[in-house]
Amino acid sequence: MKICVIGAGYVGLVTAAGLAGGGKEVTCVDKLPEKIELLKKGQMPFYEPGLKELVEKGRINFTCDLKSTLKSNQVFFVCVGTPSLTNGQIDLSQVHEIVKEIYAQAKDGSMVVMKSTVSPGTGLKLIREMGRDSIVYVSNPEFLREGQAISDWFHPDRIIIGSSNQQAAKLISALYKNIDAPIVSTDITSAEIIKYASNAYLTVKVSFINEIANLCELIGANIDDVAHGIGLDKRIGSSFLKAGLGYGGSCFPKDTRGLDFLSAQYGCNLHLLSASIRVNANQKFRVIQKLLSVLSDLHGKRIALYGLSFKPQTDDVRESIAFELINIMLKEGATVQAYDPIAADNAKKIIPPGDRLTYSNDAYLNAQGCQALVLATEWPEFAKLSWEKLKGLMVDPYLLIDGRNFLDPHKMRACGFQYQGIGR
Ligand code: UDX
Repeated sequence: MKICVIGAGYVGLVTAAGLAGGGKEVTCVDKLPEKIELLKKGQMPFYEPGLKELVEKGRINFTCDLKSTLKSNQVFFVCVGTPSLTNGQIDLSQVHEIVKEIYAQAKDGSMVVMKSTVSPGTGLKLIREMGRDSIVYVSNPEFLREGQAISDWFHPDRIIIGSSNQQAAKLISALYKNIDAPIVSTDITSAEIIKYASNAYLTVKVSFINEIANLCELIGANIDDVAHGIGLDKRIGSSFLKAGLGYGGSCFPKDTRGLDFLSAQYGCNLHLLSASIRVNANQKFRVIQKLLSVLSDLHGKRIALYGLSFKPQTDDVRESIAFELINIMLKEGATVQAYDPIAADNAKKIIPPGDRLTYSNDAYLNAQGCQALVLATEWPEFAKLSWEKLKGLMVDPYLLIDGRNFLDPHKMRACGFQYQGIGR
């Protein structure tokens, strides 16, 4: 059974490498020639720990030629982007375009395996619109976290297969036989909403702990101990209870808006989800309030920002909260000096350097002359910096706002910083 992965992005490349890593021959198609050229030279289009080695190990042929691929393969993993439209609705145009091509040109008995995150109901709608029963549609959503995608591929908590065709479900399940995880076989729409409901629930956990953290600050409690204390309850679980600036990235914001939009369309508002989105939208202002409470205003102040990727171990800056902080600080008249171990180049494409925004490639020089330092992403490298040295480069009042509760408050205060975390 010849396998083709369509889309060489965060999901497609990991899927191609994961399947090839399981010993299958895989063709990986992307419409961007420059991306395919890079991949043919063994270079990755983005940073993902372990991906380069896995791609090199596997037998993957990279091509831009979708047409001939459609004729010579039977299983098509669709891994193209499904970004948000401005009203929160999911833009399915890329998925629609690819599925149409497959249904038009693939051989009878071929299978469409939808890995892209599509709004619940999309699969059945596509099957109806395409009107070709000799092609089988399977929903197989991914649960890959950026920065941990390779381990998430080989050690998933579960594999979800949505199909009305048991034979197809069995065939796709067999592709994962080298992976030790429960396989949940269900219908297409249930598989689609499992993905959205999973991400939505994780954001509810994050927003919940952020609200508790905000209260902790007012009542003098410590959110680290609170999160630890509640997380030990197996019914709650300790993951996704890290308080901080809130969630960003290319999935949580888009998937929560998409589900919020869809539920409103059905007149069945998900109030918990809407509240989680609102909490997250407000959380970044906690950091601005902390800056203002010590600096009184940001006009003419110099602020160092550490961390531009939406989370560590990725160069992905999509919907990174760091940019929202930069925009607010610039608007308030501050000068911002930004540093990130690997995402600075991507960051400059979002907000180019300006007369009050610089990007430094030296973690120490970046703090030079700053009244305040904001940690926005918990890169492990930041824990290894000499914070005494950083403090020595800064100026009074040596304000340190730890947006991810990543640093040791006692150590930071011992260095002479006015340390403030979130909820502790
Ligand atoms: C997420 C889902 O975890 C993954 O299953 C899905 O396939 C894609 O979306 P990802 O977006 O890569 O993965 O990042 P994740 O590690 O889930 O973190 C998402 C955001 O939540 C980040 O901005 C992170 O900083 C934030 N977060 C996460 C918290 O603020 N607190 C936490 O405790 C955990």
